[in-house]
Amino acid sequence: MVLKPSEIRTIILEEHGELRRRLAGIEALLEGLSRGDSAARRELRTSFDTLCHLFITHIAHEEAILRPILADIDNWGPIRIELMDREHVEQRQRVAELAALSAETNPGAYVRSVREFVTDLRADMDGEERECLSPDVLRDDTTSIDAFGG
Ligand SMILES: [Fe+2]
Repeated sequence: MVLKPSEIRTIILEEHGELRRRLAGIEALLEGLSRGDSAARRELRTSFDTLCHLFITHIAHEEAILRPILADIDNWGPIRIELMDREHVEQRQRVAELAALSAETNPGAYVRSVREFVTDLRADMDGEERECLSPDVLRDDTTSIDAFGG
């Protein structure tokens, strides 16, 4: 099945929406934790592990459906691809490090790292939506976005 750029945008934006809803849930748990809610700690680990799993699936999905069309949309395609590849390598590495971090033995570091990751992931999705997923970039009428075209 060949997806149109607008369909790819819709799919990726829906996934971002799901990730943002989960980020909001994690932030609520972080708040609970800072108020001393001990149940929030266990829930945070579960919610964060689920988020990481969804996020890793999401970036693999971006590589499968978004990456191939980025190459052809305009002259910035190769740069967008290079940035995406580099970012995904770093993000996979970071998720692996977070998964290895113990919420029990070092709760302070764990909470700090989760908070940082939440902030960075949201900024990353915002940036991606500006740079790679805007309707100006992902258009179905590809003939009109050739910078050297008429
Ligand atoms: Fe994304």
